[in-house]
Amino acid sequence: MKDKKPETRLVAAGRREEWTQGLVNPAVWRASTILFDSVAEMKAANPPREGVLHYGRNGTPTTWALCEALTEMEPGAAMTRLYPSGSGAVAGALLAVLEAGDELLMVDSAYGPTRALCDTVLKRFGVTTIYYDPMLGRGIEALIGEKTRALFMESPGTHSFEVQDVPGMCAVARAKGLVTLLDNTWATPLFFKAIEAGVDLSILACTKYIGGHADLMLGSVTATERVAERLERTRRVLGQTAGPDEAWLALRGLRTLDVRLKRHQENGLKVARWLKGQKQVGRVLHPALQDCPGHEYWARDFSGATGLFSFVLDGADEAARTRLIDGLELFGIGYSWGAFESLALPADPVRTATKAAFEGPLIRLHVGLEDPDDLIADLAAGLACL
Ligand SMILES: Cc1ncc(COP(=O)(O)O)c(C=O)c1O
Repeated sequence: MKDKKPETRLVAAGRREEWTQGLVNPAVWRASTILFDSVAEMKAANPPREGVLHYGRNGTPTTWALCEALTEMEPGAAMTRLYPSGSGAVAGALLAVLEAGDELLMVDSAYGPTRALCDTVLKRFGVTTIYYDPMLGRGIEALIGEKTRALFMESPGTHSFEVQDVPGMCAVARAKGLVTLLDNTWATPLFFKAIEAGVDLSILACTKYIGGHADLMLGSVTATERVAERLERTRRVLGQTAGPDEAWLALRGLRTLDVRLKRHQENGLKVARWLKGQKQVGRVLHPALQDCPGHEYWARDFSGATGLFSFVLDGADEAARTRLIDGLELFGIGYSWGAFESLALPADPVRTATKAAFEGPLIRLHVGLEDPDDLIADLAAGLACL
């Protein structure tokens, strides 16, 4: 399948006959104990490896099928491992490559719980985090010292949507012997091929677009050969695993990822462009719009945009932002994103190394699969009441 187009791989990947047993999809293989015919057979299953039943924590055909499919979506990748959530995947990846005394370079626009992990658990275990400007690009070299071990990127950034020069930063980091990690949840491997861009560990909150239906929690890390063994060893000792029901739902979501993302892109851009023309809106932060910080990297490196972006209210206060969100009919108020439905959220980026490129109350929208004209009418009614 490796020579086929991404859309074809999405449909076919991971559907080995030994796992599907002739059905289109693998069944939900639920297991803790695996029964062996003999002690010799039990011993032969060690060390645990993909494709050989060992113990529930080390997977069954349902989870292997998802892992194989996600690996096939990232040309150049060696393997994928699953985690109970996207945050679990971030933690699993960082813990696999860091040790006491190391320094970690973390993008200042990272997802809040990723920052919290650095500022609490990693700090407690002797890892120092240095936050850097998301727009630093190859200038990251100046921050790399003797103890720097890893570079973490999230592109575009949470809430503020700066697109990073991932290939440029990876080239610099690789030359200095660093491990590179990317939270690729926004684009998914369909719109950004992280491993091809030089990333060692490509992280997804499958909770979002891979699942696509707001009904599962799941994370994944896709790794290059260079770090695969470390990732798996750490996952195993930390007891990180994912259930087959979640993997099955994620596999179902994966098969329609291409059509969903293209519609999220179309709807999101229509709503974003309309917002840009409204007098109550100061700025629209959408990677596919020219004035988004790092838009040139989006245009160079990505093959599409998804449905998540933010906009700034011009001359409005916190109360007006709340009133607008509360009054929307078609946008749900809730955490997460990436499913079929639209959502709106007050967004307050936390920054410690840099200042965000905008001022004023920020609203993050996830534009779903509804008719965009209905969504625009809903937003128009809300803005008119400010
Ligand atoms: C960019 C990003 N990464 C990771 C996560 C964490 O995923 P999960 O909610 O599955 O832990 C989220 C969740 O919102 C996210 O937005």
